[in-house]
Amino acid sequence: MHRIKTFGISKPDESEKFRKLFDKHISGFNGWLERDEAFFLYELSKMVEDELAIVEIGSYEGKSTVALSAGSKENVITHAIDPHTGDISEVSAGIKVDTYRNFVSNLLASGVSNKVVVKRMYSQDAAKEYKGPPIGLLFIDGWHTTDAVITDIDSWLPYLDPHGIVVFDDWGDAEVWAGISDRLNNLPKLLGAVGKDLAFTNSTKIQQSPIGVFAKRTYTRLRILNTLRAIKMTLRRKLI
Ligand SMILES: C[S@@+](CC[C@H](N)C(=O)[O-])C[C@H]1O[C@@H](n2cnc3c(N)ncnc32)[C@H](O)[C@@H]1O
Repeated sequence: MHRIKTFGISKPDESEKFRKLFDKHISGFNGWLERDEAFFLYELSKMVEDELAIVEIGSYEGKSTVALSAGSKENVITHAIDPHTGDISEVSAGIKVDTYRNFVSNLLASGVSNKVVVKRMYSQDAAKEYKGPPIGLLFIDGWHTTDAVITDIDSWLPYLDPHGIVVFDDWGDAEVWAGISDRLNNLPKLLGAVGKDLAFTNSTKIQQSPIGVFAKRTYTRLRILNTLRAIKMTLRRKLI
């Protein structure tokens, strides 16, 4: 008799802790990070070992900072880097914003301040003075221009632990993708994607965990959707 082997290929259940954190805190902050993405970061941050750090480029008012720092182990520090002068959409519209005050108060309200080192500066300057520890999880969500993405990768990849994870926000954005593709050979293996986030890691432990499978499955779904979209566009062009 053949045994059919089944793998847990569904998204892991949200824990009570995550549900409370998201509904009570993260969902109320200004920003763009969606529930699935926050859960993905929260679950990935759990896997960062004690002697490593988390680095976040682009905190805004702290949605992702809180997801990353609340999920991680007690001794893991999240370095949250942002000049706090607003998102590119606000800056290019000439809107002056200072996200620092809300950011700090959101960290306090969520009870994660003691696990976050706030660096009010640009990513490339913070990288020059970074003294370690090696990075277990690098989240890149700064300016979404090709040059900025390349600068962020080049500045921080040298500090990545061999089993570290790199996550890009909004990888489907043409400019972001151009930056990622340009440095694809330097990045670890593709792990998968969820929502607007794309993850890379060489850690087999993570690749084999439910979150890795969840990410891979979502990535496959996204690729199928993209292919269907491309076919539809070609057909439409032929019909016109
Ligand atoms: C889309 S927002 C980040 C959203 C945030 N991750 C969240 O969960 O809500 C982009 C942020 O990147 C910051 N930023 C832009 N250039 C940067 C750079 N070179 N280094 C660090 N942060 C940068 C901006 O100030 C802005 O707050």
